[in-house]
Amino acid sequence: MDFRINSRAVTVDVDLRTSLLDLLRDHLGLTGSKKGCNQGACGACTVLVDGERINACLALAVQYQGSEIVTVEGLASDGLHRLQAAFVAHDGFQCGYCTPGQLCSAIAMAAELARGVPSHVTEDLTASEIALSRDELRERMSGNLCRCGAHNGIVDAIAETFAEKIAPQEWHAPSDEKAA
Ligand code: FES
Ligand code: FES
Repeated sequence: MDFRINSRAVTVDVDLRTSLLDLLRDHLGLTGSKKGCNQGACGACTVLVDGERINACLALAVQYQGSEIVTVEGLASDGLHRLQAAFVAHDGFQCGYCTPGQLCSAIAMAAELARGVPSHVTEDLTASEIALSRDELRERMSGNLCRCGAHNGIVDAIAETFAEKIAPQEWHAPSDEKAA
């Protein structure tokens, strides 16, 4: 089967039943994408396919021939991706197991906002672009669990990285909420 992964063409002979996650980890040595639940519940295996986030554990690799697949290994080019740097700056991880999935998921989430893709908490379903509010961020990242409880740092890192998508009135820091 022929794939395009992190801007490289890859040919590999695998069973048709191989998941995309197992292809990446077990056949290509791209172990950045993690296997947590292996049933679509934790988001640790999130990768980008043609710019969209998917759970690689639930995807058959054979379906993604011809697509542009990006894993956490493909995010950085010259040094860390700015979102990775923000995770470091804001302590957005502890063990790091969920982090590759969080990073890929957040990058796709920002693209969804720019395309006006609504979420469960979006009020204006006709908006062409959606602002990054705290509720939108929490809702849209709810498929990526962090068992270390690093969510405050994760939220801060994503908010800083995609700050241009935040409308000032849409965002309140926890300290603002306490003061109100
Ligand atoms: S390992 Fe894929 S969602 Fe948990
Ligand atoms: S940093 Fe450990 S699970 Fe998120």
